[in-house]
Amino acid sequence: MKNTVGIFDSGLGGLTAAYEFENLFAGKKYIYFGDTARVPYGSKSKDTICRYALQDTGFLISKGASLIVAACGTVSANAIEALRQRFSVPVIGVVEPAAEKAARIAAAGGGRVLVLGTEATVKSGAYEKAISAIDSSLCVKSVPCPMFVPLVENGYTEGAAAELFVREYLSPYLSYGADAVILGCTHYPHLSGVIGAFLGGSVLVNSGREAAEAVSRLITADNAADGKAEFYVSDAPESFARLAGVFLKRDATEGVKCIDIESY
Ligand code: DGL
Repeated sequence: MKNTVGIFDSGLGGLTAAYEFENLFAGKKYIYFGDTARVPYGSKSKDTICRYALQDTGFLISKGASLIVAACGTVSANAIEALRQRFSVPVIGVVEPAAEKAARIAAAGGGRVLVLGTEATVKSGAYEKAISAIDSSLCVKSVPCPMFVPLVENGYTEGAAAELFVREYLSPYLSYGADAVILGCTHYPHLSGVIGAFLGGSVLVNSGREAAEAVSRLITADNAADGKAEFYVSDAPESFARLAGVFLKRDATEGVKCIDIESY
């Protein structure tokens, strides 16, 4: 039986992983769920994030997913253990792969990592734990950037509004001189242009891309099921389809279906 990958996020952010999956596994099927009725996750409690993540994963498995990518920093930081305990399929999160990449970059430079994430991700300390387990000599600072998710969900990925919030959150860290900046929420790579221009020399680590790379270390194209991507959301399929097309750099207007996630 070939593998079908299920990818989920609170909304559009996980498309950063889906986009990389499409590049790495051209013509291979994946099932995407964006929890558009309940986004954002980043301001919720750990218990709520776990409950949502269990439902999202249960839904993808009911559709035939045999490998799950929690393409959400908030879920990866707060609920990955709960998912691995509940389900027998492999669950890949974004924290471990992004931490590994950033640690490699920082170790070869000045030893400094900056993590950008949601409130819940920063509060969890998950990136600090993952990086210090790899190399405890590295210095890690984390910044919550709560306005980034609504900016991305509304398509403000460049221009004055995005620049204003990037300056607001990141000005205090300009002098820190991070070697690697982890875009620890999968929505944030959509703001890479503005963040990269503001921070200058730091290498940006796209956590969605690193998660997709982690999938390619677990399965090969030969044992991945063929077929088209399927998209499901919990609310407003039309606006998801419109922005999904922009983020996937292809037409994604067909076949986004709305489901009742509370029943899973
Ligand atoms: N894209 C998500 C993350 O990686 C969720 C953001 C949110 O819903 O607050 O954290």
